[in-house]
Amino acid sequence: MNLFRRPAPSLDDLILDTAGNDLSSARLMPTVARPPQVFVRGQGSWLWDSDDRAYLDFSQGGAANSLGHSPQVLIKALSDQAQALINPGNGLYNRLQLNLVDRLCEHTGSDQGYLLNSGAQACEAAIKLARKWGQLHRGSAYRIITAGNGCHGRSFAAMSASSGGCDNRFEPQLPGFSHVPFNDLPALHAAVDAGTVAIMLEPIQAEAGVIPATEHYLKGVERLCRELGILLILDEVQTGIGRCGALLAEQQYGIRADIIILGKGLGGGVPLAALLARGKACCFEVGELEGTHHGNALMASAGLAVLDTVLEHGFLEHVRESGCYLGEGLARLAYRYDHGQLRGQGLMWGLTLSDDSADAVVKAALHEGLILTAPQPNCLRFTPALTVSKSNIDEMLLRLARAFSRVRTAQLQCRKGIAV
Ligand SMILES: Cc1ncc(COP(=O)(O)O)c(C=O)c1O
Repeated sequence: MNLFRRPAPSLDDLILDTAGNDLSSARLMPTVARPPQVFVRGQGSWLWDSDDRAYLDFSQGGAANSLGHSPQVLIKALSDQAQALINPGNGLYNRLQLNLVDRLCEHTGSDQGYLLNSGAQACEAAIKLARKWGQLHRGSAYRIITAGNGCHGRSFAAMSASSGGCDNRFEPQLPGFSHVPFNDLPALHAAVDAGTVAIMLEPIQAEAGVIPATEHYLKGVERLCRELGILLILDEVQTGIGRCGALLAEQQYGIRADIIILGKGLGGGVPLAALLARGKACCFEVGELEGTHHGNALMASAGLAVLDTVLEHGFLEHVRESGCYLGEGLARLAYRYDHGQLRGQGLMWGLTLSDDSADAVVKAALHEGLILTAPQPNCLRFTPALTVSKSNIDEMLLRLARAFSRVRTAQLQCRKGIAV
């Protein structure tokens, strides 16, 4: 499966906004298929469009808005910091960057950390770190083994590391990656050779449709890395910072990676990512990793506000409890509409449908005032705010049921040959 080759939904009905303005002539590069609504404000689990219509948001910017839309704690942190200091530059220390790295290291048991702007950037940095380590300790080995169906972002190294390798429209890809089937230890074992420097995996493959690694697999991968003296890199861009009910998914699996990649939820909607390293993997030196906005004080203030909130007493328990509540509700709905498998942990769920109607359901849901994503043609993904309430979940299930009914009715009418 090449995750970047998924056909975009038809744009035919997506290019007029709600006021009838033709957006196709807009100057924004058309790289992302979007619905016609333009969104103007948000609060918690809710978003409002320019017609003041409210939508329940169970995507939350692709799992980035961990505390929901415009939470007070983030508004305060950002406005205080904006008044004090936005950006001294990556060549100078700022207190926020130091504090956030310290707190991340303290709570994840890491030795060093570095702040970047996006998940893909942090994956690139992890790949660089592994290659640097390979030069030092593995006779210039540089190959990284990743999993089929994995997704690590859309920069060149991250695409090459992702499932199916680099999209062939953008070849040549970066060499040095092998892909093996996910959750298959013997395949991983067979793929490791003297040129291998690391294994890089997502604990739960989010873009592939929320596919969790089994505990047996991840524990086996950790053991394999220790035995063979190679690095284990965990991409926790989606699963980290409380999404799965613990600060990191690796804690739930009871394993310990050498390098951890964080993104998305860390900034609560502000572009922020982090690279964490432990023990022998801490080998970057001056001049080997930098970027204009890396460690930006404003972004770091957002990260601190999010981290402090997620670590508050009872917060992760709320994620686990509301995650179970969401999972149970989705299972009931899936049963009622004869849909398939439900997978997930904490507040990250994927529901496999009985057919490839996920884009149609996302569109019908939007009609019902519900924002969802479809990572695969037959799969819906639910990544609400970690602060989501039971009444938000109940309301979402009602709207989703109406969306399922709409799609069913349209399918039946189609089958009967009635134009819809
Ligand atoms: C597991 C994982 N890693 C990395 C990325 C890339 O993150 P970003 O889009 O912030 O570059 C994603 C994006 O969806 C992801 O799911």
